[in-house]
Amino acid sequence: MLKTEVLEEIQLYMQKNMDDKRYEHSLRVADTAKILCIQYGENPEAGYFAGLVHDLCKQFSDEKIKTLAKKDGLAISHIEKKKPSLLHGRAGAVLLEEEFFSKEFFRKSAAVLLDYKDAILEAVRFHTFGEEKLSVLAKIVYIADKIEPGRSYEAKSLLEEIQVLELDDLALKVIQDAIAYLERKKKEVALSTLRFYEELLSNRVADYDD
Ligand SMILES: [Fe+2]
Repeated sequence: MLKTEVLEEIQLYMQKNMDDKRYEHSLRVADTAKILCIQYGENPEAGYFAGLVHDLCKQFSDEKIKTLAKKDGLAISHIEKKKPSLLHGRAGAVLLEEEFFSKEFFRKSAAVLLDYKDAILEAVRFHTFGEEKLSVLAKIVYIADKIEPGRSYEAKSLLEEIQVLELDDLALKVIQDAIAYLERKKKEVALSTLRFYEELLSNRVADYDD
């Protein structure tokens, strides 16, 4: 079981580092991720935690976000270079590992989270753009961020479809919405989003072949 001190500690950190609106969004993403975990057979505590912390660095300065994100060793895309705040997921994964997962109190009271450490860090790292070959937990956090009940009517209506949709089909609907939104806004779609989209589409074609 996840001890409440861990949640209290992280929630305190969040309240200090983000405004109320962002904090409330984080709580709704956590709840939504937990519901999706129950529906799709993933660990609900790990899902709740990953959803809760996905935007941990969202309101840090660009400089702080860049400094943290660079530590993951991945290339920085030109979209991220142009708008460093888009690196907040990558920065969040680094911060979580440095400030929480590696700390004694966390290791002692959050065994369930330690078992899911890699999936939680991956979920936080890639929640903004998505990526191919994501774990179930990371797909769930990507989806939960986009369909939590505070989002637009269209996006949150997908929450009502989880009883009838496979996880990848739900992810496909969410990513199609995300790409359509970017196109309407005349914004570039990140390569990792396109890789995620292509993978979901090709899995679907593979299903038809069976
Ligand atoms: Fe985010």
